[in-house]
Amino acid sequence: KSLEALTTFGLPSTAEAYVEVDSLDALREAFVFAREKGLRVRLLGGGANIVSMPHVSGLVIHPAMRGISFAESPENDALLVTAGAGESLDGLVRETLKRAGGLENLSAIPGSVGGAVVQNVGAYGLELAERFVSALVYDAQNDEVRTFDLEACDFSYRMSVFKRPENEGRFVVLEATLRLPKAWAPILGYKTLAERFADGSGRELTPDSVAEAVRAIRAEKLPDPAEIGSAGSFFKNPIVPVVKARELLTQYGSLVTYPIGGDRVKLAAGWLIDACGFKGTSKGRRGGAAVYDKHALVLVNAGGATGEDVVALADDIVRAVQKRFDVALEPEPVFFGD
Ligand code: EPU
Repeated sequence: KSLEALTTFGLPSTAEAYVEVDSLDALREAFVFAREKGLRVRLLGGGANIVSMPHVSGLVIHPAMRGISFAESPENDALLVTAGAGESLDGLVRETLKRAGGLENLSAIPGSVGGAVVQNVGAYGLELAERFVSALVYDAQNDEVRTFDLEACDFSYRMSVFKRPENEGRFVVLEATLRLPKAWAPILGYKTLAERFADGSGRELTPDSVAEAVRAIRAEKLPDPAEIGSAGSFFKNPIVPVVKARELLTQYGSLVTYPIGGDRVKLAAGWLIDACGFKGTSKGRRGGAAVYDKHALVLVNAGGATGEDVVALADDIVRAVQKRFDVALEPEPVFFGD
C-alpha cells in the first residue's frame, strides 16, 4: 500500500501491510492479524507528522473512528466535546466554534484528533493538554480499552505516553474528550497574534476572529499541505539551561528565546537553522528536500523528494547547529521505515 497520499509530506513510500479501521472490533482484528504474521504495528493518523521511507515494514493501522458529540460538564461551567480519533483536528475546531470558543488557537493544524492527542499539538499559545479531559484508548498489550485522564497521558512539549518509543504500536487512541470553558478568554501570549488585535486594529476579540487571525498567520509562514509537502516543524525547539541561553544571547543578540519557567529556556530552532544559512540557499537543499524559504524550521518536499533526501538534509542541519551553537536539535516527526 502506498503511503504517499496518506501523509502530508508526500514521500514515495510503500507499507508492507495496511488497514483502515473504524471500530474497536476491526482494530482488534488488525492486531490479531499482526501478531499471527509477526508484523510490527505502526499507527498512522492524519499523516501530518510522518517522515516515511521508501519501504515501511510491518502493518500500518489507520484509526478512522468518526463522530463528534457535545455534553455539559458536571459543574455546568464548560462544554465537553468528544471526537473520534479519525476526525480531522481542524474539522473539530471549526465544529466547536459554532458553539463555543476554546480551541481557536489550534486552527488550521493539519492531522487527526488521534494524532493531536498522541503528540500534544500546540500552537500560538495553546497546547491540546490545556483543554484535555480524557481519552478512550485501546491497549493492545492487554487487549483492553481504558480511559486515560490528563495525568495518565503524561503530556509534555510535543510528547505523551502514547508517543514514547517503548510504547510504539501498543496504544491506540479511539476518541478524546476536550473541555471548552464557558468563561471564554482570548489567549494572546503569542506576539504576532496579539499584534493583530492591538488598539486601533479595529478588530473585535471573539473566538472566530482569533481563529481567523491564526489562520492568516499560519498561511503567511507555513506551507499549505494541499500545495507543498511537509510535516510542519521538523525539529522541536530545543530546551537548554538558562546559563547556556545567556551565553548564546551575549554572542547572538537577535536569538529568539522563550522562558518556560525554572532554570531552563526554549530556543527558536528556526532562528538557529536560519542563522546557519540554510534558508533559500543550495546548502538548504538535498535532492528533492529543501528548507522552506519562509520558515527555516520547516522541511518541504520541493518535488520528487524521498525519505532519504529528508533525512540527509536533517542530518546536515543537526550537524551545523551542533557545530555553531553547541545545541542538539531533535526531530519532531515520527519516522516510518524498515
Ligand atoms: N525564525 C527565524 N528564521 C526562520 C524562522 C523563524 O529567525 O526562518 C524565528 C522567528 O523570527 C520567530 C522564531 O524563530 O521569532 C519562532 O518562529 P515561529 O514563531 O514561527 O514559531 P516556532 O517556534 O518556529 C512553534 C511550533 C509551531 C507553532 C508555532 C506557533 C514547534 C516545534 N513548533 O514554531 O508548530 O505553529 O510555534 O506557536 O514547537 C508544528 O509543530 O509543526 C508547528 C508548526
